[in-house]
Amino acid sequence: MTQRVALVTGAMGGLGTAICQELAKAGHKVVASYHPQFDNKEEWLKEMAAAGFNDFVCVAGDVSSLEDCQKMVAEAEAACGQVDILVNNAGITRDRMFAKMEKDGWDAVISTNLTSLFNMSKQVSAKMAERGWGRIINISSVNGVKGQAGQTNYSAAKAGVIGFTKALAAELAAKGVTVNAIAPGYVATKMVMAIKPEVLQTIVDSVPMKRLAKPEEIGGACAYLSSELAGFMTGATMNINGGLYYQ
Ligand code: CAA
Repeated sequence: MTQRVALVTGAMGGLGTAICQELAKAGHKVVASYHPQFDNKEEWLKEMAAAGFNDFVCVAGDVSSLEDCQKMVAEAEAACGQVDILVNNAGITRDRMFAKMEKDGWDAVISTNLTSLFNMSKQVSAKMAERGWGRIINISSVNGVKGQAGQTNYSAAKAGVIGFTKALAAELAAKGVTVNAIAPGYVATKMVMAIKPEVLQTIVDSVPMKRLAKPEEIGGACAYLSSELAGFMTGATMNINGGLYYQ
């Protein structure tokens, strides 16, 4: 197979780590993009090496900043060559009931979870189209599909991710570049474990499969969407949520 260069944002989080690993297992060269405030990079790299992943390249930057995204992609290109696969995975929560939500919690979630797709895709999409091959994979959420109390900001951003995906897919369909979204349900990551235990228990009880997703169950879908076999799939949203919600 052709080895591709894959850049994953939010790479050092629970979901990002699994995505990096599954893409590396599929034979791709992985660039791990992480927020500069993440202070466990060395530890993360050690853990990856212990798990057999020795050659991840790291680039630091804030995905809500256009300048940082330009810088990260330039660094990735200098180290590994053109980016063929972009996984827009970086995301945050600032959960509050709407009555209590402040503007800063709204802005932070919209800029990190949605504006980041503009910032990152802008750096790679035209070049992918010129080369006639590319994959852009955007991580949405079941809560962007169904709406979740306490997450007007997050649900709006993640629904926006799906709209962005469909529109860019239509623009790039004839150029060999696919753009798809994955809408995971609740995954066993730090973000989900931060939900109050009693609230989380109610959520797990409401999932028909009665469990959280394993991060690799989402990472595997990224590997598939990056593959040649997924070449006819674009503008789609893969719902991976244990049966929690169907469209
Ligand atoms: N639907 C409707 N109303 C709800 C509700 C629900 N699911 N959950 C809580 N409420 C109501 C309560 O009944 C209560 O109403 P009253 O005041 O009228 O009694 C009110 O909300 C409580 O509001 P508070 O602001 O006092 O609650 P809080 O501050 O203790 O908690 C919260 C608010 C932080 C949003 C908490 O409800 C929560 O964590 N909810 C879960 C949100 C969630 O699912 N987040 C997902 C995070 S993981 C993720 O996002 C990954 C992914 O992609 C899936």
